[in-house]
Amino acid sequence: MCGIIAYTGNKDAVTVVLECLKKLEYRGYDSWGIAAVTGDSISQVKRVGKIGEVGISQVKEAIKSENHTAIAHTRWATHGGVTQQNAHPHLDCTGTIAVVHNGIVDNHDELKGGLAGHRFISQTDTEIIPHLIETLAKRMEFGRAAVEAAKMLNGRSAFVAIDSKSGMLIAVRKGSPLIVGVNGAGAGEFFVGSDVMAFLDYTNKVMYLDDGECVVTDGSGTAPKFFALDTGKELQKRVVDIHWHRGSAEKEGYDHFFIKEIMEQKHTIAAAINQDDDKIMAVADAIRNAFGTFLVGCGTAGKVCMTGEYLFSRIANKHINSVIASEFANYQHYLTPRTLMIPISQSGETADVLEAIEVAKSKNSRVISLLNVFGSTMMRASDDFFMVNAGAEMAVVSTKATTAQLAVLTLLAYAAAGELQEGKFLLMNTAGSVNDMLNPRYEEHIRNLAVSLAGKKDILIIGRGLNYPIALEAAIKLQEACCIPAQGFAGGELKHGPLALVEEGTPCIAIVANDETKNDMLGSVMEVKARGGYIIGISPQSHSSFDYWLKVPDAGNASPIVNIIPVQILAYHIAILRGLNPDYPRNLAKSVTVK
Ligand code: AGP
Repeated sequence: MCGIIAYTGNKDAVTVVLECLKKLEYRGYDSWGIAAVTGDSISQVKRVGKIGEVGISQVKEAIKSENHTAIAHTRWATHGGVTQQNAHPHLDCTGTIAVVHNGIVDNHDELKGGLAGHRFISQTDTEIIPHLIETLAKRMEFGRAAVEAAKMLNGRSAFVAIDSKSGMLIAVRKGSPLIVGVNGAGAGEFFVGSDVMAFLDYTNKVMYLDDGECVVTDGSGTAPKFFALDTGKELQKRVVDIHWHRGSAEKEGYDHFFIKEIMEQKHTIAAAINQDDDKIMAVADAIRNAFGTFLVGCGTAGKVCMTGEYLFSRIANKHINSVIASEFANYQHYLTPRTLMIPISQSGETADVLEAIEVAKSKNSRVISLLNVFGSTMMRASDDFFMVNAGAEMAVVSTKATTAQLAVLTLLAYAAAGELQEGKFLLMNTAGSVNDMLNPRYEEHIRNLAVSLAGKKDILIIGRGLNYPIALEAAIKLQEACCIPAQGFAGGELKHGPLALVEEGTPCIAIVANDETKNDMLGSVMEVKARGGYIIGISPQSHSSFDYWLKVPDAGNASPIVNIIPVQILAYHIAILRGLNPDYPRNLAKSVTVK
């Protein structure tokens, strides 16, 4: 979490980093800050709240002059509350060194103990970094001091430090993501961002900074130099062109990214299955031949993985495992060089998933990632990857990336069954049905339901089979967007405990697919209804037990895709009715780059 951007070049650096920082807001939005080299000192501005609507004139009130080197940060708090003082950048005692940081310094208390006499003004772990550099820079040059300071930090970190005395900028990567952008052949303008989206409007030329490396520039326009942190050896890097059409990262007339991205599902499902047949067949073969396949993800992507387990069983008659990434290390005893791991991640930066990949790599297992962000850390950490083609997803609440992941997994399951064309046909039809579904009347029908649910203290969601993980995913949508403690269950589990939650009027969303689970699902619905529950049926057919019917197309094995969409729309409208900003859920960030 937290977004970092740094720039040095011939443009006004403050204007550039402000624009870039807005592209990173989804990584954290508690507070923000910008620091720039102004002569031989540093000027800065820090504020609580989102960077979104901040204009350059407001920043220029604090940083008046034109600057050619600046760093900026948007924060998701870990250590220290959400205050202006805790916002980054953080300065040393002399006010000539400024640092922005993403990660956690696990040993910050211990390091602080060795910095007696320094003046600390925040409660953050980050603030020790500029003070460490300050101390070390008394006996070595700034770049060397920053490297030595980095070596002392435990935990996953990435930071950028600037020094107004030398004009130098150094970026260090030690577990958290950073990527370098350059203008031209490596000289001139220089960017460092938490991800490529930060500066893609300025340049698509990148140089990859790997873990345990740093990059240094003196701000004079000469090419940046890369070094290994441990040996100090200079590294040669290639400039790589990123040819990735991330799609629009603007709201384009919608009030929120959330609803815009829901509506984009008219196109993104078709885009997701627009895959190279040979590549899909190769991945399907790898699954068929692997001695154990693990789908691994977090949160919503974790629920997609779980759906994948059902899809493969049902369509390809093949058992594969799904594991939550933060639990994957517990499965390491099952991993061999013949194991295949398929991490699924929208951002490609999720720390828990990256750690899981490290576990798989340590056992020489093969890793093929399913991703949405080109150039992400996961893409480079994997043996191979393929993309879901959903385009930039800006809302923290995942929608179009989810259905795109589900579509690709469904296609893969058909490919593994030797029925790729049947899978394509089904999914093309599903894409068409989703296009028809996402019309204003449908949205209005769901908004009317939202009006009656907005004041509820809880919502239950039930599903079975393929749609059990979708019930869990529906609960995540309602939790994060609406702050309602929604809970998802397998229909069959109700009588083993959750039924005790049902009282007169308790809303229960029942996902009733037109498959072999239908009768059992209707049985579960009757159990809730008999105890006073208010039944919202998501189903191709209505049923007398439904108090409110959300019709969905009969999509067969693609039912998870169509069944989650009405809940996405419902979550959006409940959030609005509850006065919440659905793009920025409380306490969350889009890229979860801490463990
Ligand atoms: C989705 O709505 C959530 N914001 C969250 O659960 C997310 O899916 C999870 O953090 C994983 O993110 P990733 O796909 O970028 O790895």
